Amino acid sequence: MTSINNTVVVGLQWGDEGKGKIVDLLAANARHVVRFQGGNNAGHTLVVDGETVILHLIPSGILQPDTTCIIGNGVVVDPEVLVREMNQLEQRGHTITPDSLVLSSDAHLVLPIHRTLDGLREQALGGAKIGTTKKGIGPAYEDKVARRGIRAGALLDLARFRRHIQGTLHEKHRIFTEWYDAPGATDDELVEWATPLAERLKPFIRDGVDALHDAIDAHESILFEGAQGTYLDVDHGTYPFVTSSNTVAGNAAAGTGVGPKDLHNIVGIAKAYATRVGSGPFPTQLNGDEEEALRSKGGEFGATTGRPRSCGWFDAPMVRHACRLNSVTHLVLTKLDILSGLESLRIGIGHEPVVGGDRFEGSPVYETVPGWSEDISSCRSWDELPANAKAYVERIETLVGVQAGLISVGPGREQVIPRDELFETHPFDM
Ligand code: GDP
Ligand code: IMO
Ligand code: MG
Repeated sequence: MTSINNTVVVGLQWGDEGKGKIVDLLAANARHVVRFQGGNNAGHTLVVDGETVILHLIPSGILQPDTTCIIGNGVVVDPEVLVREMNQLEQRGHTITPDSLVLSSDAHLVLPIHRTLDGLREQALGGAKIGTTKKGIGPAYEDKVARRGIRAGALLDLARFRRHIQGTLHEKHRIFTEWYDAPGATDDELVEWATPLAERLKPFIRDGVDALHDAIDAHESILFEGAQGTYLDVDHGTYPFVTSSNTVAGNAAAGTGVGPKDLHNIVGIAKAYATRVGSGPFPTQLNGDEEEALRSKGGEFGATTGRPRSCGWFDAPMVRHACRLNSVTHLVLTKLDILSGLESLRIGIGHEPVVGGDRFEGSPVYETVPGWSEDISSCRSWDELPANAKAYVERIETLVGVQAGLISVGPGREQVIPRDELFETHPFDM
């Protein structure tokens, strides 16, 4: 039996760092994979044996055999999206059973009224919009914190569901009709929407906290899958251009009911460059042809919304600060292969201070380093990398202050260069 070694995986930039790929890989060593925040604003891409799967709510351990995937209490769950995702996986031959998927009864639901409100708010903000995914994530978290949210457990009893939605529904109805001049919503419509979803999801709804503590008692490892990234964190990100949850590793505890002493390794994922989707500051953003070249080579289009991602250089001080915020023990650098072919690369090494400004508001200060021309996507060991690629990784390690325990050189599960034993996959003993 393997020793208990729980691992949290978080993004260190603005999301889309490649968390899904790394969670899928690490899930070979974990019996349980749990999402702890966010909702289907996330889009996590897995490429296994040439098959691409994009997951929005189901944890990225679902393609590994014998892994239980848990949607934790800190997640907001759109049941319609969850059912669609389950059905799509089943159509592709992946069986989903109550042994492989648990929906925590305490996870809050995203309802159609939340999606509608997200869209209306963004529209009303016009040029000042956040650029949300319009999936209703913000409004669902608002209802949770306002103590009028609906939890997944309510789907077990639709009479209770009908009673519980009254509070939020009355308020939303007035906001829609009186403030936004938009059509209202009724409880009959919502119950009608929920009825088939409840039927499908009932067998999967359980107490997630108990499921995880049973795992701890049985000495089974847990992998905590973060969504979004550190600079989208509602407290530590580029507020107000952030998501509506804490994305940092500390929330892996609150979002699952596992205490912080049971979080052992903290894996921070950073792209070897930087991207951002939606509005908000991005100090090292490129523009023009250079940005376009990086976007098209990196395939930088949102996995959830299809929107083009803004692209730029690696911002070392931001990633260094993110490592502090998350207590990162292991750094993973992804998409190093995308940088092949550039004559030189720039790394953001500082920010000009702005009096009274936010931490990273000032223009970035760059260092220029030589690039490499070789295709590195089939490299599987450190020694195979070109000297300039190694030097780039080492410079990042020095600037960030954490060793890169894994380097990713392509979208496939096997396209990795492990440099730390945490990333040596050894499916657990039975
Ligand atoms: P996540 O939200 O952090 O899980 O990341 P996304 O799935 O939204 O975006 C990452 C994209 O990069 C996906 O299309 C992945 O298949 C792809 N990807 C991940 N790692 C690598 C890598 O090392 N090289 C390349 N070329 N693609 C990668
Ligand atoms: P993964 O898990 C990148 C961004 C949106 C917007 C802001 C708020 O795939 O890394 P929201 O819908 O959450 O209210 O939008 O956050 N955003 C993401 N950007 N990756 C994500 O998830 C994101 N989830 C939300 O673009 O700027
Ligand atoms: Mg993504």
